[in-house]
Parts: sequence; C-alpha cells; structure tokens
Amino acid sequence: MPFNRKHLLGLEELSAEEITAILDAADTFKEISERPIKKVPALRGKTIANLFYEPSTRTRLSFELAEKRLSADSVSFSKQGSSVSKGETLRDTVENIQAMKVDMVVMRHQSSGAHRFLANFLDASIINAGDGQHEHPTQALLDMMTLRQRWKTFAGKRVTIIGDIMHSRVARSNIWGLTKLGASVTVCGPATMMPASVESLGEGGVTVEHDVRAAIAEADAINILRVQLERQKGRLFPSMREYFDVFGVTAEVLSHAPEHCIVMHPGPMNRGVEIGQEVADGDRAVILEQVTNGVAVRMAVLFLLAGGSLDAGTLQ
Ligand code: CP
Repeated sequence: MPFNRKHLLGLEELSAEEITAILDAADTFKEISERPIKKVPALRGKTIANLFYEPSTRTRLSFELAEKRLSADSVSFSKQGSSVSKGETLRDTVENIQAMKVDMVVMRHQSSGAHRFLANFLDASIINAGDGQHEHPTQALLDMMTLRQRWKTFAGKRVTIIGDIMHSRVARSNIWGLTKLGASVTVCGPATMMPASVESLGEGGVTVEHDVRAAIAEADAINILRVQLERQKGRLFPSMREYFDVFGVTAEVLSHAPEHCIVMHPGPMNRGVEIGQEVADGDRAVILEQVTNGVAVRMAVLFLLAGGSLDAGTLQ
C-alpha cells in the first residue's frame, strides 16, 4: 500500500500512487455503509477531534459518521460557543485539544495554510477538511471516487469545472488530483473569478474557457461550483440573475454537452444561481452519490493515516 503519511494537507503534495491507494481503500470501505450494522473495529481506541471554524453540513457529518463506523472515539468543536470568541489563538486551541491526548485532528479553517502551520508542532495527525481558498482534499477524493466508479481510469477523460474558481478550494484539489491521474481539466467562469496564472494550475496545467457551452462541448463530467459570496470582497459580477444567465447550468446549457456527460456539485447548491433546478434533480446528476462516497473516502483517509493496512480482518 503506497501510503505512509502522517497528515493529509492537500492533493498537491500526493503522488498519483498515493491518491490511487486512498481511492482503492475507499472502494473497499464503501460496503460497510451498506451493512445493517455499519461498524468495524478498525480504529478502536483512537481519539479524533473534529474542529470546524467554518460552517459545514456534508464534510462534518461525513467525517463524524466515518469515525463512528470505524469505532473511533470522536469529539466535535465549532467556533461558535467556543473560547475562540474570548481571543484564544488557533495554536493554543489545538494544543489544548492535543493535551487531552487526541490521535487525529480533522479541521476546517478559513485561513489557507492553517493546517500546514499546525503540522509544524502537533504530534497528532492533521486532516484538512477545507482551508480557505487553498484545498479541500477529501472533497476532491470523493469526486474522483465517483468518477472512477464510472470510468475505471482517468486517462483521456475530460472534466470541466464551472464557476467561482478563484475562491474554490474544491477546484484546486480537483485540479491537482485529476491532472495527476491523467484527466484533462477545463475551467470556466467569469474572468473576475479566475485566479492569477490559472492556466498553470495542476500537473501540466488546465484549459481556460469563458463560454460555458464551449467549455462543456467535449466534457465527460462537469463539476459546478457554488458562488462563494462570503469570500468575495466586492461584487465580481453584476447580479445573481446575470450570473445565472451567463454561467448557470440549465437544461439548455447541458444539451451542449455529450449525452454521457455527468453533473457533479460539491454542495451546498444555490439553485437558480449556478445550477438550474432541472439539472440539479436530473438524471445526469450524481450529487447525492458524491455524498455517499464521501463517507467511504473519509473512512479510508482516517484508516490509512492511522497506519492501517487492509487485510481480511479489517472489515469484520
Ligand atoms: N462540500 C462541502 O464541503 O460541503 P460542506 O460545506 O457542507 O461541508
């Protein structure tokens, strides 16, 4: 098993073999969530703290479920109601939590690089559940798991990511993961929402296209991003209605993609802003399948970081 890391900080630093090892393990762990008793003792005795400095529904619940299904003991912390409001620093908070002898810290934080900073002085394993505009590795892994279940291989496949690329940690992690495994990536969105030097992101770079119909014309999958108003300092487009008119993925827009092209969205969705109702609920959407795969991916990440190796006894 080519995975021997202490932390999961992002996909940029992982090799194709390491990403594949996580996806392989996730495929194995997925079956546990189909059982009447959804629990194995793989992480019995391990203690995990989930620290969420930003709101979350999917990531937080799915990490908590993954921990429970692996029999770990877990505690969860939200910024609201904690001593952060009394001025405690991130480092002090996490060192206090570590002093309670936790083995792993799952954290979402608004600052890009917060996890790498903590990795300098924590003994616990750190798992990035989203850091600012930087990376959201487990989201990209669950997206890739969903794609791999259909495609078997990424070689020659085309993925178009549409929306607020500049503020999207999901886009960055997907670009790193997909390009490392051999897929080609096109990004599409308003010029005001493209990061500087976007063309050189990922392994070998990405294609930039501002016309949404042209961007999806040869896509095998499209991944639609939420417009992250909370991260924008000023208005980057005239109105929500104009954004939907130009970049919103409606049934008409989707008709320009190949028939086999599937639709992904990391959630939470803003229906009527970046995605039309009929696309969100349509036959080509795999959005809830992504959520299901999220639990398996997080089980795999926790298990591998804890030094686990999959053998016959792991899943009983
Ligand atoms: N995809 C995602 O990160 O969703 P949450 O913000 O609900 O965790």
